[in-house]
Amino acid sequence: MPTSAISSWRDRERIQMPVYTDPTALRAVEARLRQLPPLVFADEARRLRTELAAVSRGEAFLLQGGDCAESFDQFGADQVRDFFKVMLQMAMVLTYGAKVPVVKVGRIAGQFAKPRSAPTEKVGEVELPSYRGDIINGFDFTEAARVPDPERMLQAYTQSAATLNMLRGMAKGGFADVNKVHQWTLDFTAEDKAEAYRDIANALQDTLDFIRAAGLSPRKAEELATVDFYSSHEALLLEYEEGLTRTDPMTGELVAGSGHLIWIGDRTRQPDGAHVDFCRQVINPIGLKCGPTTSSEDLKVLIDTLMNGKLDDAGRLMLITRFGADKVEEHLPRLIDTVEEMGAKVVWTCDPMHGNTIKSATGYKTRPFENVLGEVQEFFRVHGEKGTTPGGVHFEMTGQDVTECTGGLRALTDEDLSDRYHTACDPRLNASQALELAFLVNQLMRAPRSAAAQVASA
Ligand code: PEP
Ligand code: CO
Repeated sequence: MPTSAISSWRDRERIQMPVYTDPTALRAVEARLRQLPPLVFADEARRLRTELAAVSRGEAFLLQGGDCAESFDQFGADQVRDFFKVMLQMAMVLTYGAKVPVVKVGRIAGQFAKPRSAPTEKVGEVELPSYRGDIINGFDFTEAARVPDPERMLQAYTQSAATLNMLRGMAKGGFADVNKVHQWTLDFTAEDKAEAYRDIANALQDTLDFIRAAGLSPRKAEELATVDFYSSHEALLLEYEEGLTRTDPMTGELVAGSGHLIWIGDRTRQPDGAHVDFCRQVINPIGLKCGPTTSSEDLKVLIDTLMNGKLDDAGRLMLITRFGADKVEEHLPRLIDTVEEMGAKVVWTCDPMHGNTIKSATGYKTRPFENVLGEVQEFFRVHGEKGTTPGGVHFEMTGQDVTECTGGLRALTDEDLSDRYHTACDPRLNASQALELAFLVNQLMRAPRSAAAQVASA
């Protein structure tokens, strides 16, 4: 029997979660998590909800991005800094295109647990349980590494705390100054191959020069030197999530203390499932992945459940669509119609990664840059036609110079993938591909918005 409302997920089917073999060790870790300070706080989660409400109305744009899976081995100050640097550059380029503030949310400081398509993995004749992310088991292809170990939750907590500490410092400590961020972008557009983006970068430079010449009050100058940054991850491992859930003493409401925004994956969105049951109870903004198999009937129930019947509560629910570039036309219009018929106020955002994964000729899981861009284009086009708001984009990306997705201005090929293929799970855009995509989305941003405005005024 559940001990409190937040434990009620334990009565539901256990989907995509490990079965721990040592219940005593598991209970000890859960008890420890309940004692530790939460990583994020109620008012921060509420502030993000307010910002996402603005996104749903088209008054702000969302940029969400980060690793597919954070890793214990590849963690360090350089990785966090380089990731943050590219996020800031993308946000700046997108702000310029969207002409509204960009809400910045990392897939970071908690993005450790992975749903898998198959429970086991076979190499030659050896079959072992699948790797499920560093918070659950180890990546090495050995029997010992693949045993789920609850202690890993504590290491994930510690790494998340250190990551957030660094992000909070960089967001407020001068690292995020617009002039500095712009200088990095100029370095990027100085490359011969990035010539196409130079005009935008120069126009941005003119704007900054103008602001400086016009004279800023000290308070405004400080605002331009700092940013708000939020954390997010898939709430997959519910023992970890429950262990970090806290009751807000001011209101009695439940808050997931593991990250500002949590989302439900495409494989664990059963309307009567454990993950939906957990997420409906916390006040954090909730993301819901929607793929080709999301039926309109399920979506209706999910929206009603996750919004707790308050369909005008904009900022509570974000629908993250991920169909594949060639399937957007088949699925997005019907889901938009469902939401419009219900009159629900949601944030629509596009994950152009998870529906566009293919196997390269050289045997690597990859994503062609043009298909990633293609899904974003389709997302803007359909929302433009429907008169609804394309609220944001969601990328798997890194600040490192990896070779995991093909294409982009450096034209990575299948043969290049083996050079620096470092991901613990899905292929990520590298820093150059991520920034290039921001430039391309910047260009896209104007047309569909004006189309939307025409539909609205017709
Ligand atoms: C992910 O975001 O890493 C993921 C597994 O996505 P999805 O649930 O959409 O497949
Ligand atoms: Co992924």
